[in-house]
Amino acid sequence: MNIVLFGPPGSGKGTQAQFIVERYNIPQISTGDMLRSAVKAKSPLGLMAKSIMDSGALVSDDIVLGLVKERISNDDCQNGFILDGFPRTIPQADSLSELLLDIKKSVDLVVSLEVDTIELIRRLSGRRACSACGKGYHVLYNSPKVADTCDACGAALVQRADDAEETVTNRLKVYDEQTSALKSYFKELGLLHSVSGTGTIAEIQASIVSIIEAGGTGDHP
Ligand code: AP5
Repeated sequence: MNIVLFGPPGSGKGTQAQFIVERYNIPQISTGDMLRSAVKAKSPLGLMAKSIMDSGALVSDDIVLGLVKERISNDDCQNGFILDGFPRTIPQADSLSELLLDIKKSVDLVVSLEVDTIELIRRLSGRRACSACGKGYHVLYNSPKVADTCDACGAALVQRADDAEETVTNRLKVYDEQTSALKSYFKELGLLHSVSGTGTIAEIQASIVSIIEAGGTGDHP
């Protein structure tokens, strides 16, 4: 099954993708994670992407498309994949269709996580991760036993550079202006399944499972 996990910054795409990876044994293709790896490695792509990501703007369509094209052709995507954070513009979505057509695949369903703006800001501003092992935390929803310290390895917790307040505001604006139109795009293709992204992580997982196990044909307008 080829799935697009769609939603604004902080809606829980990464959290839910992890669960789908484990349950269905298909890989997550997160353009945000790929770009952050390039930034960390200080590769030419990473050096170019860093300032764009830190501002909350989108990296160019050509660059992210190149990343996805390379990743999707790997053997581990043969039985399906979850796209997280891609596509994010209509040109990206058109290019994805062409790319998949070339390899005789298509998107089977799009799960759109619906979360209100106040909650998105709360989630993003409180998100923390371990600077050593990467384990994720949240200051309100999933706090460590000792403040600012990883339960697993004892290293310091850090905030993602683009979770700073001004950047979050811009990321949400960019989502409204450049990405949210994809909901109508996917709806017209009959692929869109909207679920409430508010509630416990387990409740949202259950909604997603019911859509996937109905083969994307369930009644989720
Ligand atoms: P990307 O990494 O894709 O970030 P994003 O879309 O802004 O999404 P996030 O990763 O911030 O949030 P999420 O929805 O995954 O939520 P999460 O599960 O972490 O992109 C970063 C940047 O890269 C972009 O701004 C852009 O510059 C560039 N980029 C990436 N893709 C691109 C593309 N295709 N084109 C161009 N540029 C691109 O959850 C958030 C927090 O909430 C966590 O703390 C989590 O624990 C908590 N949480 C999750 N679910 C719940 C729940 N049910 N209840 C309570 N807390 C919850």
